[in-house]
Amino acid sequence: MPAQDLDQIVNLCKRRGFVYPSAEIYGGFRSSYDYGPLGSLMLRNVKDAWVRTMVQMRDDTVLIDAAILGPPQVFEASGHLANFSDPLVDCTVCKRRFRQDHLDTRDCPQSMKGCQFTEARAFNLMFKTHAGPIEGAGAEVYLRPETAQGMFVNFMNVLQTSRKRPPFGIAQVGKSFRNEITPGNFIFRTREFEQMELEFFVPPAEGPQWYEYWCKERLDWYVNLGIPREMLRIRAHDADELSHYSAGTSDVEFLFPWGWGELEGIAQRTDFDLSQHASHSGQKLDFFDQATNERYVPFVVEPAAGANRTMAAFLLAAYDEDVVNDEPRTVLRLHPRLAPYKVAVLPLSKKDTLSPLARDIFQQLSRRWMCEYDETQAIGRRYRRQDEIGTPLCVTVDFDSLEDNAVTIRDRDSTEQVRVPIAVLETEVAGRLGL
Ligand code: GAP
Repeated sequence: MPAQDLDQIVNLCKRRGFVYPSAEIYGGFRSSYDYGPLGSLMLRNVKDAWVRTMVQMRDDTVLIDAAILGPPQVFEASGHLANFSDPLVDCTVCKRRFRQDHLDTRDCPQSMKGCQFTEARAFNLMFKTHAGPIEGAGAEVYLRPETAQGMFVNFMNVLQTSRKRPPFGIAQVGKSFRNEITPGNFIFRTREFEQMELEFFVPPAEGPQWYEYWCKERLDWYVNLGIPREMLRIRAHDADELSHYSAGTSDVEFLFPWGWGELEGIAQRTDFDLSQHASHSGQKLDFFDQATNERYVPFVVEPAAGANRTMAAFLLAAYDEDVVNDEPRTVLRLHPRLAPYKVAVLPLSKKDTLSPLARDIFQQLSRRWMCEYDETQAIGRRYRRQDEIGTPLCVTVDFDSLEDNAVTIRDRDSTEQVRVPIAVLETEVAGRLGL
C-alpha cells in the first residue's frame, strides 16, 4: 500500500540519504532541500526518463539548455513582470502573511483564530538580482520563473539550425525560481525547483488536437513508470485559475497524502509568447510554410512538469510495508528506471576470498548500470537496506560461487532467489531490469 503519511517518506529520505533539509548544520534554510547520494541519482533518473520519452524516442523534438539569468526585457514581454504574482494578505494581529487564495484550504484555520486581514495586494514571485559590481545601475536581472521563456526566445535559432518545422517541440530541463509565499509539503513547493518543459509549436488550427494528444501522453508517462492509475487524474482549470498566457490548461494531479496536487500542467499558450517576443524585440518569430505558401505564428501546447514533486509522487506511490520470513520490511517498489541503484553486489562475507570475484562482478555490471557494492553487516540487513532504497536486484556472491561459477540473484519485490551462472549474469540482469 502506498505511503499514507508524508512523514513516512520524509523520514526515509533523511535516514537513507535521499533528501536532507538544506543548511541543516545552521538550523536549516526554510523550505530548501539538498539531494543526497540516493536522491541525486533518483532525481536525475526522473529527468532522464522524461528526456528519454519526450526527446530521445521522438523525431519531432529537440533539447536545449538556456541561461537561468535573464534580462528584464524577456519578462516584460512574457508578462511575468506585470502578471506573475500571488494575492497576499497580512494579519495585523499576528503579523503573519498568507496567500489569500490559500486561506480556506491550506493554512490551518485553528492557527488563524483572531486574525485580522489587510486588503489583498499583488506580490511578484520573481527573484531579482544585479549583474556586475554596481547595484542600481540598470543591470537588473531575474532568475527565470519557468524554463519556457528560453524556448520562446530561441525559437528562430532552433528553427534555423535543427531542420524541424511545425509541428515540433523544444524541450528543456532545469532549475526555476519563485519567491513562493507559502512553500511547503516537503519538496512539493519550494522556492528553487526543477522543471521539465516542452514547448510544442503547431499550426494554429491544430492546437486543440495536440492539446488532447499531450494530455493523454503525459498521463501515460506516469502510469508507465509505476504510479497506479487510480492515484492520478486530469483536471481542467476553471477560467479564474488560468495563467495570464493560457487559453486552457489541464493538470495531471496525483493523490498526495493531503489530497490531490498538481504534478504537471498542460497549457494552450496559443501564439501569446511568440507574438509578445516578436513585438517587444522587433524580430520576426513566425514560420513560412512552403507547402501551403502561408506565413503564421505557431500556437504552442506546453506540457510543463516539476521534477522534484514528481519524484515525491514516485516515492509515495512506491512505498510499501510487508512481512518477509516473519520480519516486517519497508520496500520501495520503484520502477527500475527510477531506482537509484539497479543492482547491489553483495559478497556473503567480508573475507578476502570472496572480495576479488565480487569486485570483478561489480566492475562488469557497473559499466552498464548504477550499482552499489556493499560487504559489511549480515546479509539479511543488507537485503533490507536495498529493499528500502528500491534496488530491484541483489547479486550475492557466496563460497559456492568460487566452485560453481554462479551467483544468486534476489528480486526486490518477490524476494525470490535464483542461481545464475556468472557467464550469463549480465544478460540475465538486463532481462530482469527490462531497461
Ligand atoms: N511554463 C509553465 C509553468 O511554469 P507551472 O504550472 O507554473 O507552469 C509547471 O509550473 C510545473 O512546475 C508545476 O506543475 C510543478 O510541477 C512545478 N512547479 C511549479 N512551481 C513549483 C514550486 N514552487 N516548487 C516545486 N515545483 C513547482
